[in-house]
Amino acid sequence: MRLARPVVFGNWKMNGLRAESLALAGTLAERAVRLTGTVGVFPPFTLIHAVAQRVRGSGILVGGQDCHEKASGAYTGCIAAPMLADAGATAVILGHSERRHGLGETDALVRAKLVAARAAGLLVVLCIGETEAEYLAGARSARLRAQLDGSLPEGIGPEGLVVAYEPVWAIGTGRTPTAEEIRATHGEIRELLARRIVGGEAVPLLYGGSVKPDNAGEIMALADVDGVLVGGASLDARSFWTIYQAGGGA
Ligand code: 13P
Repeated sequence: MRLARPVVFGNWKMNGLRAESLALAGTLAERAVRLTGTVGVFPPFTLIHAVAQRVRGSGILVGGQDCHEKASGAYTGCIAAPMLADAGATAVILGHSERRHGLGETDALVRAKLVAARAAGLLVVLCIGETEAEYLAGARSARLRAQLDGSLPEGIGPEGLVVAYEPVWAIGTGRTPTAEEIRATHGEIRELLARRIVGGEAVPLLYGGSVKPDNAGEIMALADVDGVLVGGASLDARSFWTIYQAGGGA
């Protein structure tokens, strides 16, 4: 599946109860009359089914924010990739920094989850990003290379894969790298993917971290930025749609 640009995904994180989330999904579905780009929302597990039903026919993708590396079994409290697909999800975010850093997920675990997600037919949004300490130490490139090396299975193809660059220090802080830093980093990631994956230069690259209506246009105009992964601003229909339109989406 080739994703039309701009690719604008909303990570709702652990936010929203049923009524407000379905209202948000309904407003987005109404705006998505004939999508020229790719729009997706990633609600909490409990709302995936209802949100998928609400946006059905609009072209808006619905995804999970994580999945387990096994397809089923005695893993209390976990959600398997086939369960996401069964609930109506067609995508999943993996390796988000809030899971890598908050919950101790390793590259090896992310890789195993990626294999499971692909086996279930899900589009994978693989998140990578350096911490502030790594950024200040000039270790960004090394960290991103290590995360890609460790998180991508051997022999993986470019289909069904999206990579999101989310500097940990830019998430929820209102701070972003400069446009030039984002451009340069995305160029590096594009090269790394081209070397690692046959056809890897075609993998869509998203920027994430404090994307708002007022900076989205500049960011999405940069070379090698195919779209954005939005956190806080995706919880408001107007902000999220303004971001999508700022990237040229209609
Ligand atoms: P914010 O847009 O709230 O900074 O979150 C970004 C993010 O983590 C998206 O996955």
